[in-house]
Amino acid sequence: MTSLQKTVQLPSGEQIPALGQGTWEMGEKSRARADEIEALQTGVDLGLTLIDTAEMYGDGDSEKLIAEALGHRRNELFIVSKVYPHNGSETGVKAACERSLKRLQTDCIDLYLLHWRGGEDLEGVIAGFENLKAAGKIRHWGVSNFDTEDMVELFALENGNRCASNQILYNVARRGPEFDLLPWMRERNMPAMAYSPVDHSRLPKQSVLNDIAEARGVSPTQIALAWVLQQPGVLAIPKASTIAHVKENAAARDIELSSEELAQIDAQFKPPKSKRPLEML
Ligand SMILES: NC(=O)c1ccc[n+]([C@@H]2O[C@H](COP(=O)([O-])OP(=O)(O)OC[C@H]3O[C@@H](n4cnc5c(N)ncnc54)[C@H](OP(=O)(O)O)[C@@H]3O)[C@@H](O)[C@H]2O)c1
Repeated sequence: MTSLQKTVQLPSGEQIPALGQGTWEMGEKSRARADEIEALQTGVDLGLTLIDTAEMYGDGDSEKLIAEALGHRRNELFIVSKVYPHNGSETGVKAACERSLKRLQTDCIDLYLLHWRGGEDLEGVIAGFENLKAAGKIRHWGVSNFDTEDMVELFALENGNRCASNQILYNVARRGPEFDLLPWMRERNMPAMAYSPVDHSRLPKQSVLNDIAEARGVSPTQIALAWVLQQPGVLAIPKASTIAHVKENAAARDIELSSEELAQIDAQFKPPKSKRPLEML
């Protein structure tokens, strides 16, 4: 299998790319626009066809950038967008989705997520998402920043178990979800979507990642990304606004860390021994 075919499976059985592209903080500065468009297009050329956005990003400007950069390639894409919790009601998600569809210039979002918990009417959100699915406006729905107890609460509600994914902060330096959230999701065949997979550029400047990277002739960021991609049932959505970074990230799919390298990483970036509340960016 070539790296371009690397996928993870949704509970429905559909395969989606294990490596996608995030777009937070993109589409906000006019002088960066041309580079961002080129970066997104290069990513899609390299098979990074899952694109993550949200109504929050740039107040809709990220969704507009995606339409401008990739509108002509809509049928190649798997688009993920998110609704604010303050729009989290049966009618609120419908209206927010219509606005996102308009900005994205498409008639369907592939995966629509509740961005985080914050005073939403969770039963109403599920009903709204199910209505949007029935109307063909979204294909799947899910959540983001849900810890284990939030997932349990969701699954206790009518149709709550139709959730397709949970997008969470997860990377080599933030391994809390490994204690109980990821196992809980794996038992239900639900992939986790790792956001900030290279820790929003805050990984330590010197670490075991540098040693492994140097020995392999790649970058530490690529090692951090390869580590996420090696976790079962996890997909990653790094944000890169330059072509060079996009190419590096795409090449990280070809890196398979050995058990020795994984053990070296565990020695510095320790897996959790007890519950750590889910972190959020
Ligand atoms: N659901 C949520 O609550 C939530 C929260 C945060 C993020 N997200 C999603 O997840 C996406 C990714 O998270 P993130 O943007 O927070 O962090 P990230 O992807 O971990 O890090 C992005 C930073 O890393 C840099 N970078 C990317 N590839 C690199 C490479 N190969 N070498 C060196 N630096 C590299 C980027 O620089 P350049 O831009 O200069 O290339 C940018 O500064 C977001 O864009 C968004 O779509 C979701």
